[in-house]
Amino acid sequence: MTTSVTSIGLRGLEGYKVIVEVQIIPGRESVSLIGLPEASVKESKDRVMATLYANNCSFPGKKIIINLSPSEQKKNIPIFDLAMAIGLMKEMHYIQHEIPVNTAFLGALSLTGEIKSVKGMLPAILAAKKQNIKILYLPCIEDLPFTNIDGIELRFVRTLNDVLQSLSGKRIPNPSTMNLTKTSPQIIHYDKDFQYIIGHHQTKRALEIAAAGAHNVLLIGPPGSGKSLLSESLPSILPPLSNESQFDVMSIYQLAGVSQANPTQVPFRAPHHSSSSVSLIGGSSIPKPGEVSLAHHGVLFLDEMAEFPRRTLDMLRQPIETGKVTISRAATTVVYPSRFILIGAMNPCPCGYLGDRSHYCTCTPKQINTYQNRISGPILDRIDVILELKPVLLHGDSNEKVETSSVIRNRVIASRARQYKRYQGEFLNSSVPIERLVVGTTLQTDQKQMLQKWSASYQWSSRVQMKVLRLARTISNLSGDDKITNSALWEAMSLRRRKVVSSKSLGAR
Ligand SMILES: Nc1ncnc2c1ncn2[C@@H]1O[C@H](COP(=O)(O)OP(=O)(O)OP(=O)(O)O)[C@@H](O)[C@H]1O
Ligand SMILES: [Mg+2]
Repeated sequence: MTTSVTSIGLRGLEGYKVIVEVQIIPGRESVSLIGLPEASVKESKDRVMATLYANNCSFPGKKIIINLSPSEQKKNIPIFDLAMAIGLMKEMHYIQHEIPVNTAFLGALSLTGEIKSVKGMLPAILAAKKQNIKILYLPCIEDLPFTNIDGIELRFVRTLNDVLQSLSGKRIPNPSTMNLTKTSPQIIHYDKDFQYIIGHHQTKRALEIAAAGAHNVLLIGPPGSGKSLLSESLPSILPPLSNESQFDVMSIYQLAGVSQANPTQVPFRAPHHSSSSVSLIGGSSIPKPGEVSLAHHGVLFLDEMAEFPRRTLDMLRQPIETGKVTISRAATTVVYPSRFILIGAMNPCPCGYLGDRSHYCTCTPKQINTYQNRISGPILDRIDVILELKPVLLHGDSNEKVETSSVIRNRVIASRARQYKRYQGEFLNSSVPIERLVVGTTLQTDQKQMLQKWSASYQWSSRVQMKVLRLARTISNLSGDDKITNSALWEAMSLRRRKVVSSKSLGAR
């Protein structure tokens, strides 16, 4: 006879059912674990045997075969210990009761029978729901953001003995008495706030538009002009994460083994320009999420963007375009989500002062060219807003209108709500499929002519023209207009007008 017990495996963030099959056949006393277990899963065998021994089980003196199905999929997290132990005990008749259908078991075991959490437990729990599991046995996880999910009964267990008692119909302690943290809305604190940024009205407005429609931005300016300050302030005007987005983000952080200060806050990732392509995109032999996925639902800030190796930057093309990154390794191919707002900051040339009125640029045209060419055409093509910054007088206009980030954030939230309503789903203007974008976005004849004229003079690709339309949609949306207005189209075109360095700046040398 064979006993089958269900567990959940992970391929990136995506979960799949793993059936742990246990069979005892005549032969020399031994245990074989098959079904492509990686090193950490192979060790499960000894943990399970030690736990059963500690729980007074005596072995049959025959050959035990444990198969992890589907057998062609590599298993790389030791989450199947509990399912293996239950399967073995059932096969050896230490468990008399039937295991209810659609029940799954998650968790690693200690040698004494305690059930432990492993990396990736949260995505596995969420995957169990998608896989139509109705009862899930899992370890007590201190930082789990919920103690119940609709449609699935979570049975938190501390030891193998708890599971045996529960299977025999006895009640196990209620999770609320187990000191698990419940989702409590945490107060979001931002280090940077727009109210403390002096001047830069046009850039602030552009960042508001970028936040509303999730458009990518490139800021170019001399040293000390406020590029990093503005970029680091962007999260403060973004809406807080929804519950689903929080779970996505927490799952990615868990898989990457990165700690997260506040799960409700939008992720802000600022990798250094010396970062390797693996740390940026994700990878290693068991592919882990990289910075592009850690920035999912948030912001990826590339400070000193021109200092990143061109090859590394070019790897961003797929994640920016598709909102996901596919990592293929010999053993497996995984897909991680990577929908973020890209914000890049760079100087216009190696010395930094090209086009600056108060400093003389010391770079040669060749140096400037080489510097600018570090950002390839395809990457620039994927940027919606390009802004040139000039230093502002910090003690200039004392009567300027100051807005806090929370005021701007409220406008962004309202604009996003209008976009969700318009597209009848969680789509934003920057990434909504074209067929949905164009519904009700027909430009008038004079608007088409204006766009054609600008496209010809700035040599915009079809992608950039589409980006301008998307930007115009967001600008109209922010002002509550249903149609694309002339002023919105004009503003959108002027936000994309600049090349990396305008001919005007070059002329100023
Ligand atoms: N508009 C501004 N309002 C308030 N403070 C500012 C502003 N611009 C710059 N600063 C101050 O100047 C500091 C330097 O600005 P920031 O680091 O943003 O410059 P940068 O453009 O990124 O320069 P670099 O090219 O050298 O990286 C900031 O920490 C901030 O204190
Ligand atoms: Mg900077």
